[in-house]
Amino acid sequence: RTLRIGLIPGDGIGREVIPAGRRILESLPSSLNLKFSFVDLDAGYETFQKTGTALPDKTVDTLKKECDGALFGAVSSPSTKVAGYSSPIVALRKKLDLYANVRPVKTTAGNSNGKPIDLVIVRENTEDLYVKEERTIEGPNGKVAEAIKRISEKASFRISNIAGEIALRRQNIRAASPTSTRDQPMVTITHKSNVLSQTDGLFRETARRALSAEKFSSVFVEEQIVDSMVYKLFRQPEFYDVIVAPNLYGDILSDGAAALVGSLGLVPSANVGDGFAIGEPCHGSAPDIEGKGISNPIATIRSVALMLEFLGEEKAAAQIYAAVDGNLDAAQFLTPDMGGKATTQQVLDDVLKRL
Ligand code: NAI
Ligand code: MG
Repeated sequence: RTLRIGLIPGDGIGREVIPAGRRILESLPSSLNLKFSFVDLDAGYETFQKTGTALPDKTVDTLKKECDGALFGAVSSPSTKVAGYSSPIVALRKKLDLYANVRPVKTTAGNSNGKPIDLVIVRENTEDLYVKEERTIEGPNGKVAEAIKRISEKASFRISNIAGEIALRRQNIRAASPTSTRDQPMVTITHKSNVLSQTDGLFRETARRALSAEKFSSVFVEEQIVDSMVYKLFRQPEFYDVIVAPNLYGDILSDGAAALVGSLGLVPSANVGDGFAIGEPCHGSAPDIEGKGISNPIATIRSVALMLEFLGEEKAAAQIYAAVDGNLDAAQFLTPDMGGKATTQQVLDDVLKRL
């Protein structure tokens, strides 16, 4: 099988880590029978400054017409509003209908602070408060601003369905691991339907229905109110397996959970739709370390594996995860964000050697 992959480095250290991701794909063992072709694509703030758009049509068209998947680095966003600029990754998610944002958060034996964490947050990516339908009204007592929170049955169903599928897949992978301690897959539905009985109520109800399908009969389904869930996530992160959440809660939980594993440079994500996936490290363009050759490539390398998982190449993904775990556990080649002295290249070389 040959997969065509769009490479969108973006800005800053995106240009240092995406080439590392490409090297991983090029170096997969030949026994996997997987080949890749690549196409370099533009997006980001520098693209905006050069061309007037942060997401050229050519990038979107090429992804749609030619590619099976893509890797996205990071983009710099100005902290004050710049006319005409809007985030290309947000636009890409919409244009390609990448309705799920998937973020695994995992420790390894050598990097766990005593608590082994292995969870994944599955965040709805298309609606909730992020439909950005806001307005400000001048009232007699000053301004009042309001925003629409939109929850649909369709989006809630498909996000819950993919969360269930991820739970089953993780269980299959665990079954092959001698050190696994979890014997049943679990999905936690996150909501605040005690207060928002219609919007979050619909999410909760639909998630329950989606996850009650026969194919998920082996999955234990539970639910938690989002605020108490944050408490438990920080006290007892090892409890969680798959967490499914509407857009806003998922956004906040994702970054919070990422803090549990030490460095942003470790945490991958994928934007997933039906038949397409974009792997994307969670970190930004990191201008403070740009050009020094010390950015941690692990988040990107894990994003490569995550993309492959959603393109149906689970074996290849498992080998990449194992190589990364090996690098972290040995702790011989770690970048400065992990307390080490290694360069991006040295970490990449070590992972490649293990692969
Ligand atoms: P950031 O994630 O770029 O950096 C935060 C801190 O983490 C910095 O100290 C950085 O050096 C460190 N860090 C991040 N990734 C690292 C890696 N791979 N290896 C080692 N250290 C790493 O977030 P920040 O500084 O808030 O934002 C910088 C720029 O990135 C802004 O323009 C922001 O808008 C953009 N950004 C873009 C994102 C995206 O493209 N998805 C996400 C977050 C921020
Ligand atoms: Mg976020």
